[in-house]
Amino acid sequence: MRSFVIRERDDTLQTGVEERETFPKDDDDIFINVEYSGINFKDALVASVDGRVRRVDELIGGVDAAGTIVSSNDPALGVGTRVAVHGADLGVARDGGFAEFVYAPSRLISVLPASVSTRDAMVIGTAGFTAMASLLALEDHGLEPACEVLVTGATGGVGSLAVSFLQAYGYRPVASTGSPQESEWLFERGATRIIGRDEIADRPERVLASERWAGAIDCVGGATLQQILRSLRYGAGVAASGLVASPELHTSVYPFITRAVALLGIDAVEASRATRERVWERVGDVAPRVDFAALTDRDIALEDLDDALETIRRGATRGRILVHPV
Ligand SMILES: NC(=O)c1ccc[n+]([C@@H]2O[C@H](COP(=O)([O-])OP(=O)(O)OC[C@H]3O[C@@H](n4cnc5c(N)ncnc54)[C@H](OP(=O)(O)O)[C@@H]3O)[C@@H](O)[C@H]2O)c1
Repeated sequence: MRSFVIRERDDTLQTGVEERETFPKDDDDIFINVEYSGINFKDALVASVDGRVRRVDELIGGVDAAGTIVSSNDPALGVGTRVAVHGADLGVARDGGFAEFVYAPSRLISVLPASVSTRDAMVIGTAGFTAMASLLALEDHGLEPACEVLVTGATGGVGSLAVSFLQAYGYRPVASTGSPQESEWLFERGATRIIGRDEIADRPERVLASERWAGAIDCVGGATLQQILRSLRYGAGVAASGLVASPELHTSVYPFITRAVALLGIDAVEASRATRERVWERVGDVAPRVDFAALTDRDIALEDLDDALETIRRGATRGRILVHPV
């Protein structure tokens, strides 16, 4: 089958489209015909020598896939079921979704709601799953509609899906972006205000900034997350999922002990089956109110993956890049 293969030999990385078979890791792995995949920041790290994410020397890339089950021993996941699959070692330590077919264990597989096509599922992908998991974490922490919620990295995958989901549920998303030329597109996605990357917090001379945000969805990390913690309102939370700026976090305890704010960690990779069901159910609920086509940066073939992965590394995407493996 046609596959996008990543191979490292003697610290040299080769990537490209090849005819290559894939095999199950366990006897009960489910076999899926991949209709669409999507590109995530993590895919760019996997396809880098120094990305420190890939755990094998050779594999088919792609942390995301959506398609139809071809063979299965699981009665809950019958042949013909439309599914999305992501997480654990898919596309990191075992063959992933940049291919015509993929094997995956049932715990990573989610049945798609009727309102979500396999194409829309990959506009959502791990990025959208993370965005929705972030919103659910904030709501569990007490966030209520009509509030201003900060979204960082707003033109990226997690960010743009977060803006769209928040808007669809009646929140007022404030998009923080380093891409001001995309302001109109962000307003169309539902942002009520746009701010620059450096405008998250004021009073740099003080330990704490003015109380601004009723909640925040952050996939940037580093100094951005530090500024969010300084400027959350009393009792508010930030759902933190990413590290595009930096994995470092320098903060003081003051936001936690004087404003009772919460740092809510979000992980899509090892999400439990219950979490996956909850997130995809909520995605199914909101899907009719989201313009997934407008969230698509472009559609590409396997042959275009090298260029697209470089675009992601440069932080120069807008929304999601969809991959057609056939
Ligand atoms: N925890 C999890 O399970 C999980 C799941 C999915 C993703 N993630 C993480 O979430 C992050 C985002 O993933 P993604 O797929 O949405 O990536 P993406 O599509 O590349 O979007 C990242 C966005 O961040 C902004 N950005 C880029 N470089 C930046 C920098 N140096 N400083 C500040 N902002 C910068 C850009 O938006 P603007 O130009 O609009 O500012 C960019 O579009 C990654 O770190 C990824 O690993 C984690």
